[in-house]
This record gives sequence, structure tokens and C-alpha cells, in this order.
Amino acid sequence: MAKRALVTGAGGFIGHHLVHYLIGKGYWVRGVDLKYPEYQHTAASEFELLDLRRADSCLIATRGVEEVYSLAADMGGIGYITSNHADISRNDTLINVNMLEAARINGVERFMYSSSACIYPQFLQRDPNVTALKEDDAWPADPEEGYGLEKLFMEKLCQYYREDYGLQTRIIRFHNVYGPFGTYDGGKEKAPAAIARKVALASHGGDIEVWGDGKQTRSFMYVADCVEGIFRITHSDHPQPLNLGREELITIEGLVDLVCEIAGKKLNKRFDTSKPQGVRGRNSDNTRLRQAIGWEPRVAMREGLVPTYQWIASQLASAKSEITSVLASSAG
Ligand SMILES: NC(=O)c1ccc[n+]([C@@H]2O[C@H](COP(=O)([O-])OP(=O)(O)OC[C@H]3O[C@@H](n4cnc5c(N)ncnc54)[C@H](O)[C@@H]3O)[C@@H](O)[C@H]2O)c1
Repeated sequence: MAKRALVTGAGGFIGHHLVHYLIGKGYWVRGVDLKYPEYQHTAASEFELLDLRRADSCLIATRGVEEVYSLAADMGGIGYITSNHADISRNDTLINVNMLEAARINGVERFMYSSSACIYPQFLQRDPNVTALKEDDAWPADPEEGYGLEKLFMEKLCQYYREDYGLQTRIIRFHNVYGPFGTYDGGKEKAPAAIARKVALASHGGDIEVWGDGKQTRSFMYVADCVEGIFRITHSDHPQPLNLGREELITIEGLVDLVCEIAGKKLNKRFDTSKPQGVRGRNSDNTRLRQAIGWEPRVAMREGLVPTYQWIASQLASAKSEITSVLASSAG
């Protein structure tokens, strides 16, 4: 009989891809979210619209499944998470506390929790020439306000549920995920998608606004690697937190240049240091990941950015042609 899994946040970016991946592995999958996926039909066997801040919704969501992939969260890019501390902390705490308890009550076997590189201490991320972050660096703690602090506490709650109730929790610290079917406008988009959108909209020889001075560094992971890593870690016997990211470091300015090159456009970069830019530098140390599961993300930045840019550019082009035809028909 097919294994039964729940993916929460299945209307969002990573959740949507994960549903597709699990279906490909022969799973029966229930997707749950506040909304359906925006850009493509879900592959889920069943999809329910539920608000997982509510305990009763979490009980409905977790009924009859063996595995839970917990991705639902109120989150967004750096602009969003630095200006909505109260909403994010309250919403995500409610979701995660209620999800863990419902999973326990309904006898779920494995529970994957999506944590984040934002749990790492800010004092280790003040230099663009970063030392990559190791799992043990999380404590003593000094996480990103709100979003990161909530994730760090939920990692602990996952640990306590495993120790006290035997729920097999797996804790994954994602480092910046990008790819097609991710949010690319509206304020919740992350750097690669925002940059791809700006490049796609700019005319050759025009300007592009870049948040910060462009010298801040990051590593980015392609979404196909992310879902593969989620599956491997969830089925591993490693219950302590693991990084899931790439070790390939790039400056934000370098990212802009790479997207311009893929688009075949030359643009003038205008750096805006009044905009939020997050920590100065952040990279993933994959030593423990390699030891634990013998695998790490492999898609290089350029390789993953090509389909990502093409998808965002095609979305923008079809939105533009829709507006043009609406204007033409209303004029006629
Ligand atoms: N994308 C990244 O780079 C990244 C990095 C680190 C951690 N993460 C974590 O991975 C998970 C998935 O991220 P994503 O990029 O797919 O984000 P996303 O915003 O695309 O997806 C999250 C989904 O959760 C849903 N959701 C929010 N509140 C809900 C509620 N009350 N009930 C039900 N559903 C609700 C949203 O509607 C959304 O569809 C999140 O937990 C996020 O914190 C992502």
C-alpha cells in the first residue's frame, strides 16, 4: 500500500515542489494550506484549505498519515521578516505547536520540521568573508528577531517531542531556496526571485535597484535539491538539526551580474543602502550533512538560475500580454 504523507504549506513554493516529488515516489499525499498553489495545479492526491494556527485544523490535517512534512509558515524575504515580528512569531508559533501536538495525538511516525539558517547567531554573520555555519554554532543563541527565534524554539520542541513521546522528528535548516513557481513579487519574494524580476522588467542599458551595497554574501540552493534533501533527511536516522544548503558563496552583486548575463542584458546597478539587507555574510557548512546522509545539494547557481529566470520572465511576459489585450478589448 502507498505510504500516506501530509505536506503543509503545499500551496507555497517548497511545499508545492515536495508534493510533486512525493507523488513521483509513489506516495499518497494530502496537501494543506490557506491557499491553492498560485502558478500550477497541485499534484496532491487530496488538497484541503485549512488554517493551521487552529488546533482542530491540525487534527484534521494529520488524520491517517504516517509522515508529516511541516512547511507551512508565515514568512517572506528580508523586507517582510524584519517588519512583521509580532505577526510572524504569533502565527508560526501557533502553527508549529498545534501541528506537533496533533501529530502526536494522531500517531504520526515521522515529522519533518523546516527550520532555517535564520536561527544562527547574528554575531557570526557580520563579515562578508564568512566562516560557513556549522550546526553546533546555533548556541549560544542570537538568532534573527521574530522569525529566527521562533524557529530555534520549535527545533527544541521537536527534540522534546522525540525524547518524551517517541515522535521521530527531523529538523532541517534550509539555506535560501530558489527556483520556478516561487513568489517573485508582492513583498514576500526572496533575493534571487526579486533580482530575476527586476532584470526581466528592465530594458537593456537601463537601471536596476539593488538592496544594500551588493557586497553581502549568501549561498543559494535550487528547489530540486531541497526536496531531495528533505526526503533523504526525513528518512535518515539523524534526529539532530542538519543544514540543507549549498557551500557555493556569491555576493548579491555577483548574483545580479549572473542573472544579467543569463538574460543577455547590461544594466547599471544602483545600490540602495537604506533598504534591509540582512546579515553581511552567510554560508552553509555541509560537513555534518555529508556524514549523516552521504549526499549534499549539487545544482550549481548558474544551472538553477537559468530555468528560474526563464520562468519568471515568461510569467511577466504573459501578465503583460494579458493587460494589453484587456486594454485593447476595453478600448474597442
Ligand atoms: N524558501 C526559503 O528560502 C526558506 C529558507 C529557510 C526556511 N524556509 C522554510 O521553509 C518552509 C517553506 O517555505 P516556502 O519558501 O515554501 O514559503 P511559502 O511562503 O512559499 O510557503 C509557506 C506556505 O505556508 C502557508 N501558510 C501560512 N500560514 C498558514 C496557516 N495558518 N495555515 C496553513 N498554511 C499556512 C502559506 O499560505 C504558504 O503557502 C517555511 O517553513 C519556511 O520558513 C524557507
